[in-house]
Amino acid sequence: MFENFKVPQDLLPSDPRFGVGPSLIPRKSVMALAETVPHLLGTSHRKMPVRSLVREVQEGLKNYFRLPPGYEVVLGNGGATFLWDMIGLGLVEKSSVHFICGEFSDKWYRSHSLIPWIKTTPVRIDYGKGINPYEEPLHDVICCTLNETSTGVKMSLLPDLKDPHTLLAMDATSGAGQMKVDFNKVDLYYFSPQKVFASEGGFYVAILSPKALERAKKIHLDQKRFVPESMKWMNAIENSKNNQTYNTPAVSTIFFLNEQIKLMNELGEEKVISGAKKKAELIYRWAEENPYLSPFVKEEEFRSEAVATIDIDDQFKVDDLLQVLRDQEVAYDIDGYRKLNRNQLRISLFHNVSYEDLLKLTKIITLMLESEVSSRKN
Ligand SMILES: Cc1ncc(COP(=O)(O)O)c(C=O)c1O
Repeated sequence: MFENFKVPQDLLPSDPRFGVGPSLIPRKSVMALAETVPHLLGTSHRKMPVRSLVREVQEGLKNYFRLPPGYEVVLGNGGATFLWDMIGLGLVEKSSVHFICGEFSDKWYRSHSLIPWIKTTPVRIDYGKGINPYEEPLHDVICCTLNETSTGVKMSLLPDLKDPHTLLAMDATSGAGQMKVDFNKVDLYYFSPQKVFASEGGFYVAILSPKALERAKKIHLDQKRFVPESMKWMNAIENSKNNQTYNTPAVSTIFFLNEQIKLMNELGEEKVISGAKKKAELIYRWAEENPYLSPFVKEEEFRSEAVATIDIDDQFKVDDLLQVLRDQEVAYDIDGYRKLNRNQLRISLFHNVSYEDLLKLTKIITLMLESEVSSRKN
C-alpha cells in the first residue's frame, strides 16, 4: 500500500522529528554544545561551570513556571520511571490513589503496587477517555498524569484538596511546559526532559512544594523504612540545593534542557501555550474533516495539546503509511503506542514542531490517502 507515492518536494517538512519523545532537539542547541568545548563537557559536575548550568536550569524553570515561594527544583538521574519508585518509597506514607487513563499512569500504579507496606488504589477509565483526579479518603498521595502520552488524553481540572495531609503528585512528562498548571494545587510536579523540553532521556526534573519537602523529610527520619541510597529524596534535595545531582549526570542533557528553557522563556509560558493550542486546533480539525480520519479522544475537554492521537480508517494499513513517511524523510516515529494496537498515528505538538511543518505533514497524509483510494478505483 502507498508504495508508488512520491512526496511533493515543496511539501517536505523542514524536520522529520514529529515523534512524541525523544523529541526534536534543535540543530542550534546541538551546535551550541560544540561551542562549549573545552569548558563544559568532560568537566566535573561538582565544579562551577556545570553547577552554574544547573543553577541556570533551576532558576529558568522557577521563572518560566512562576513557582510559588518555597518550591524546590530537584534534578537527578533516572527519568520519570525512576521517580515512580522514589515516590512510592519516599513520599507515600500509607496509601496512594492512581488515576489511570493509559499505559504510563498504569505503570506508575504498578510500581507502587509492588511496595508491600503501602496500599494502592487504582481508578480506571477506558483508554481514549479522560478522568480528572479527586481526593479519596485515607489516601495520602493522589497520583495523576497531566498528559497521557500513550493515549493523547490530558487532564482538564485539578481538585482543591480538603485534607491538609494529602499530597497531589503529577506526572507532567509530556505536557510540562505547554499545559497550564496551578502550582498552588500541586505538591510534586515531575517530568523527563526528552519531550517539550527537547533534551535527552535518563534524567528527571521534580518540583516539590513545601508540603512535599516536609513529607520527604518525615519519611527519611522513619528508622523502620528501608530506602536504597540512590532513591532517597533527601539525597536528591540536598544536592539540588547545591546545584548538583546525587550522582554523575550527563552534562549534555542538562545543557540541552537549559537551551530549551531559555528559548521558551524568551516567549513566556502564555505564548508557548497559545502556540500549542493553535497546532492542536489544526490537527484535530484536519482529523475531523477528513473522511478517513478521526481523533481517538472524542471528548474535546480531554484532547491533548501536546500529543495528538488520530485513528485511520481500517481500509488503510498505518504501518505501510508510516514506512513511506519514514523512507522519504517526511516524519519519523509517529506510530501509535504499541500496546494500544490501533490503526493510529500519534503526532507531537511539542514546542519545537512548527505549525508550518505540521500543516505540511497533514497535507502529505491527506494526499497519500486520497491517491490510494483513487488508485483502487482505476
Ligand atoms: C507520561 C509519561 N510518564 C512517564 C514516562 C517515562 O519516562 P522515562 O522513559 O523518561 O522514564 C513517559 C515516557 O514517555 C511518559 O510519557
